[in-house]
Amino acid sequence: MNLLGISAHYHDSAAALVIDGVPVCAVQEERLSRHKGDAGFPLLAIESCLQHAGIEPNELDAVVFYERPMLKFDRVLTCALRAFPKSWRAFPKAMKNLLGEKVWMRGIISSHLGVPGRKVLFTEHHQSHAAAAFLTAPTRRAAIMTADAVGEWATLSVGEGERGSNGSTKIRRFREIRFPHSLGMLYSTFTAFLGFKVNEDEYKVMGLAAYGEPTMTEQVRKLIRRTPDCAFALDLNYFEFHTTAQRSYSSRFIELFGPPRNPYDPIDLDTSEGQRFADCAASVQRVLEDTLVELARVLQRETGLTDLCLGGGVALNGVANARLLAESGFQRIFVPPAPGDAGCAIGAALYCDRIHFGNADRDVPDHPFWGPSVDGSELARIAQEDGHSIEEFRDGALVDQIADDLAASRIVGWMEGPLEFGPRALGHRSILTAPHTTEMRDRLNREIKYRESFRPFAPVVPIEVAGRYFDIPPGGPRLARFMSGVFPVRPEWRSRLQAITHVDGTARVQVLERAMAPRLHALLEAYGRRTGIPVLLNTSFNLAGEPIVNRAVEGYSTFLRSKIDVLVAGGTRVTKHTSAMGSTAAGGLGRRSHD
Ligand SMILES: [Fe+2]
Repeated sequence: MNLLGISAHYHDSAAALVIDGVPVCAVQEERLSRHKGDAGFPLLAIESCLQHAGIEPNELDAVVFYERPMLKFDRVLTCALRAFPKSWRAFPKAMKNLLGEKVWMRGIISSHLGVPGRKVLFTEHHQSHAAAAFLTAPTRRAAIMTADAVGEWATLSVGEGERGSNGSTKIRRFREIRFPHSLGMLYSTFTAFLGFKVNEDEYKVMGLAAYGEPTMTEQVRKLIRRTPDCAFALDLNYFEFHTTAQRSYSSRFIELFGPPRNPYDPIDLDTSEGQRFADCAASVQRVLEDTLVELARVLQRETGLTDLCLGGGVALNGVANARLLAESGFQRIFVPPAPGDAGCAIGAALYCDRIHFGNADRDVPDHPFWGPSVDGSELARIAQEDGHSIEEFRDGALVDQIADDLAASRIVGWMEGPLEFGPRALGHRSILTAPHTTEMRDRLNREIKYRESFRPFAPVVPIEVAGRYFDIPPGGPRLARFMSGVFPVRPEWRSRLQAITHVDGTARVQVLERAMAPRLHALLEAYGRRTGIPVLLNTSFNLAGEPIVNRAVEGYSTFLRSKIDVLVAGGTRVTKHTSAMGSTAAGGLGRRSHD
């Protein structure tokens, strides 16, 4: 059975193809259209998925959209009417968006793909999140918690999933919290207040939080009140997101926290103003964590289960995830590589397969590499046309050469195999460097990523030695598989892992099993043999404001426009300064093979 899942028209559109119960391809539209956060109908992603599998749209058994447009329409209309007349400015825009696209989704999908309307199905937004979290995790029974800004009405849901021995699948929802009461909206309101982009820059709030003290948690707790049924409610006097699209916080919010940050002013942590912003971030982060931990504890006691699957954009908060692991009572926590709305494309298709069609349970491969594959020969061709020196390597020789490059403090753009699905680069489209010094961190920030100095870089380490360098609790390696947890760097290693150690001594570490990315694992070992420390800095392969690279040509373009020293795709290595880099290419320009 061929099922196409689609998420679109909010942010970060994506498509995923599930054939006979197993995903075969999934990709975000931004990676193909090259528009960061592309929210348009994911035609390129759909085409890529179908091409990958060699099937035509008429061979699809169903196309599944990741939420129910009419429910969303109902929510926008209801909220606008409740807030009238305050909402009159926002209302026409919201209606235009909805009426223009979402409500007519069946017709849009049907006409784009040429499939009959009866083949277009819908899942609920949080059902898609729950399915993406549970059905891709290697667990047979788990509690499920999903949390984001908002779907149709739900903003948080808790429940349970079970894969029976007879091949049946059950996903039960116990209860949900509804808009406008939303942890995601609470966090996003602070994201806006702190001058960052809502729905995009929430991780910057988390990064900034490490520089502050949670001195304003009492004020944040005025905004969010626990309810007797173990849920929470926002005090809407402090917010405006539910009445207008212009601003998410109210003047009472400003009375409580002071003036908002101008997005164009840099954050100077040496000033009291800069410290206030960091303290705001630390305070909302603390309250978010406390709330999630309390909700998860209740769910753990209720289900008596040891596994928790987390979905929704809130599950990208690695600091909160680590606290959940430590304090909620769950022993293992599974976060998929794409817990946000893009991941709903896989979730919707899998939900439909297991629940709607009742197909038999299947194991889903436990990796994030669902996108198009990179072509090393494409890199060789375009680099050679440009007169660059290129070298071709067999596997072992390539690993040795790149380990030498990294040990010589060169910055490496590393492309291998299929593209990652989700926001993290996990070793197939990564910029890799030595992780030892703050100079390297500053060089990356200044010359490659052009971003705020408070943003930490992430490390990658083989699972066999992760505990030597990082203080990872039982269950932590699972959380760190897709960089979903933040853990302390062991104090004795911090001075030698400066580029990846955040100001509070932590790191968002990727713990790598050989089977998931064998060549990167071999590279870490080879680098360890040279330097004594098998840890690399691993940051996404993109420049500021651009999506992660997909094809070799995009990696090459990024390489040319930045200070990346070495570019690798497949077995092809390209350098900029052939003589200085010790290239062995005959005649200075050309091509040479290494076995
Ligand atoms: Fe969502």
